[in-house]
Amino acid sequence: MCDGEVMKVGIIGAGRLGAALSGHFTRAGHQVMMAGSRGPEKLATLVGELGENASAGTPQEAADFGDIVVLAVQWDQKESAAAAVSSWQGRIVLVPINPLRETPSGLEHADTGGRPPTEVVASLLPGALVVKGFNTYPAQVLAEDPVVNGGRRIVLLAGDDLDAKRKVAELVDSTGFQAVDTGSLAEGGPLFDSGGPLGGPRKDLLAL
Ligand SMILES: NC(=O)c1ccc[n+]([C@@H]2O[C@H](COP(=O)([O-])OP(=O)(O)OC[C@H]3O[C@@H](n4cnc5c(N)ncnc54)[C@H](OP(=O)(O)O)[C@@H]3O)[C@@H](O)[C@H]2O)c1
Repeated sequence: MCDGEVMKVGIIGAGRLGAALSGHFTRAGHQVMMAGSRGPEKLATLVGELGENASAGTPQEAADFGDIVVLAVQWDQKESAAAAVSSWQGRIVLVPINPLRETPSGLEHADTGGRPPTEVVASLLPGALVVKGFNTYPAQVLAEDPVVNGGRRIVLLAGDDLDAKRKVAELVDSTGFQAVDTGSLAEGGPLFDSGGPLGGPRKDLLAL
């Protein structure tokens, strides 16, 4: 259980990444509300497995519930998910979205029009305090115990609002990961995009 503040986290996108994160957050004592595109009743099994700290709702309900909202949908789902919430103004939104598309022949990079991908996502969330993070570990690795060989797996963060980033870092640290602030979305974000020096699928980036 976390020693600090118990947070409420709305998770829009209850797939592989959203499920892995919800496990960490609930085990740390935080409360999560999960949402998908098909209605809360479709999430009954997942919510049952997560236990008493988890519930399911619509995307709007999850956004209203969360001190922090995680947008854990695929690149091609970002527009529909963004449109499912009436206003993003002032919300802290954690974005793990990579510009990838699943095709029968494997993962393909989506065209971001030359813009940093998180900037493209942020443009769909007017007024949101966007923090990029949790995009570098494959979901099955993310789901593991973050304490490895005596170190804590690092979660790189980038964002323009210091208070929002501090709050997300507190959430990250409470789960056993170690948050590391890389700076603003424009400067820090590209460092851990898939083509960046700290990007791509990671097994271990440890704080010892
Ligand atoms: N998986 C990984 O290893 C991994 C690693 C790093 C980063 N990421 C990033 O994390 C994001 C999520 O990946 P994922 O693998 O978890 O995808 P996923 O398993 O396909 O899950 C996507 C989820 O989004 C929900 N969704 C789709 N459209 C929605 C909408 N309009 N409103 C609300 N929910 C909606 C889906 O719910 P329904 O089923 O109800 O439609 C589904 O639960 C991606 O952007 C990916 O780049 C993933």
